[in-house]
Amino acid sequence: TAAFNLSGSKPALAGASVCQRAPSGAGTKASVGLDKAISSRAAENPIGSAVWQKVPRPTGHAPSLSGPACAAPDSRLNSLLQMTSPAPLYPHRHLLGIEGLSHLDIEALLDRAEDYVSLSRQVEKKTTALRGRTQINLFFEPSTRTQASFELAGKRLGADVMNMSVAFSSVKKGETLIDTAATLSAMRPDIIVVRHHAAGAVNLLARKVGCSVINAGDGAHEHPTQALLDALTIRRNKGRIQGLTVAICGDILHSRVARSNIILLNALGAKVRLIAPSTLMPAGVERMGVEVYRDMREGLKGVDIVMMLRLQLERMNGAFVPSSKEYFRYFGLDRDKLSLAAPDALVMHPGPMNRGVEISSEVADGAQSLIREQVEMGVAVRMAVLDALAQHLPNV
Ligand code: NCD
Repeated sequence: TAAFNLSGSKPALAGASVCQRAPSGAGTKASVGLDKAISSRAAENPIGSAVWQKVPRPTGHAPSLSGPACAAPDSRLNSLLQMTSPAPLYPHRHLLGIEGLSHLDIEALLDRAEDYVSLSRQVEKKTTALRGRTQINLFFEPSTRTQASFELAGKRLGADVMNMSVAFSSVKKGETLIDTAATLSAMRPDIIVVRHHAAGAVNLLARKVGCSVINAGDGAHEHPTQALLDALTIRRNKGRIQGLTVAICGDILHSRVARSNIILLNALGAKVRLIAPSTLMPAGVERMGVEVYRDMREGLKGVDIVMMLRLQLERMNGAFVPSSKEYFRYFGLDRDKLSLAAPDALVMHPGPMNRGVEISSEVADGAQSLIREQVEMGVAVRMAVLDALAQHLPNV
């Protein structure tokens, strides 16, 4: 059952909770289990399991600050306003998704991340933006690179970082997400980074704690820092995002990476193609402003970026592909299929890779691959996000 339909009225919290304005007061207590909360209180937690049923419209380009929509009638007043209330780098208290961010929000984070790429390449990699702050990484799903990346990012900014992974936590003893959140909240963290297997869990948690929350991946919903690091990697290699054609290929249906990337790339003016077998293509996804291809050779023609996705076997109930050998033959990226893309096309993958299933080793390790660089950009982007949220933390 879909939490809401494609054309129906806007659910109470969709979008709104994605980018709450800061600050909004202290957290509240609750004692409901997440599963119950998600299934029985759809109005409170509208994301639910049917994430692709809720197709956000691409935001496109917001009017530029220098454009007529924002031009102040009195330029003296304008400069006074700028002096007394400088625009914050990023005006939101949380980062729960790319949905709801403007292209200015996104570009501000990418610009800030550039500084942190330089810093991370120095011998002395530390700064003090998060000095005295506590960051908790709360991971309900296994993760290597994302958790390590958030940990390094927090430490490079001077925060005390605590990793809490569910395998060793009270959640194994039956504690609910909300109880865990309330317990952690009482320890007065400043920022909680959350990964959870259920779509909507991070939005729910953000409403129950008093600190800033970053979504490190929730079910098949969103993975905003992955989309930001992908955008940074593309921008550094191509010099721009606007006007590029990006093909996202593979298991779109189960992918939060695809969803966040579609929203971000559309907001920044890229053309997005999705390439997948019908079983792995969400119904109605055309409404997100993408071109849909079911044939890899057709879809790859002339593209600038090929973004491969992992087959998310852990999210599949039943067989979505006949066999991984057959999948590779039709949808795996090898040299032959890559030759159909633009001659200077670049290849990306969020990792972890299934070599020989969605991508050949030759391509993954080849000259057109940006996969290692994506990992480096991940740390810089997470530093930028943590830094941006820290600007909204109370100082007293
Ligand atoms: C992605 C994720 O977890 O959604 N990986 C990651 O963040 N490193 C993609 C994936 O798991 O395939």
